[in-house]
Amino acid sequence: MDSAVTIRPARLEELDVAGNLRASMAEEEGLRWDHDSPGWRARYVEFFRRKQRLGDAQLFYAQHEERIVGMAAFSVLDEYRAAAFGQPRGWVNSVFVIAEFRRRGIARELMRAGIEWMRRRGCIMARLRTSDEGERLYETLGFVRGREMELRL
Ligand SMILES: CC(C)(COP(=O)(O)OP(=O)(O)OC[C@H]1O[C@@H](n2cnc3c(N)ncnc32)[C@H](O)[C@@H]1OP(=O)(O)O)[C@@H](O)C(=O)NCCC(=O)NCCS
Repeated sequence: MDSAVTIRPARLEELDVAGNLRASMAEEEGLRWDHDSPGWRARYVEFFRRKQRLGDAQLFYAQHEERIVGMAAFSVLDEYRAAAFGQPRGWVNSVFVIAEFRRRGIARELMRAGIEWMRRRGCIMARLRTSDEGERLYETLGFVRGREMELRL
């Protein structure tokens, strides 16, 4: 990876940055969240802040000089298997690297850091929904298609 970039856990007091990066990601996806859901950024940040405070989530940042140029969010799913068998699953959200820093291995290192965090947190599986762009990245990390199905309601 680019040696000028550092991968590190995000601190609770700097999660607003994640809201802004998630907004850039949404814009790139053609989503109009600021228009359609005013206030979503604060709710997004509060969701992860609460979980991270409890030890049930961790965001990682990629930092270049003073600037955060990438992020990924990792959380522990609240489901019965975690409670009944002590076998939590992890969920990956908001994997994003700003355009001019792409294809330097930053997302891969963010993912590696988050996978290690989920492992230490006791997770036995990591899941995510991929974009077309992310698919190859996740495959190279060992992600495979599982047996999940979904129904839009
Ligand atoms: C997907 C994304 C996070 C990848 O970030 P990145 O830092 O450029 O990824 P990396 O440099 O770590 O790439 C690692 C590997 O993933 C694959 N990969 C990454 N971007 C790819 C692309 N656009 N097309 C095909 N393969 C790609 C390659 O195998 C790459 O290795 P290589 O460069 O040695 O060939 C970035 O393009 C992005 O932010 N896209 C918009 C948001 C998004 O789609 N996020 C994923 C949501 S699930």
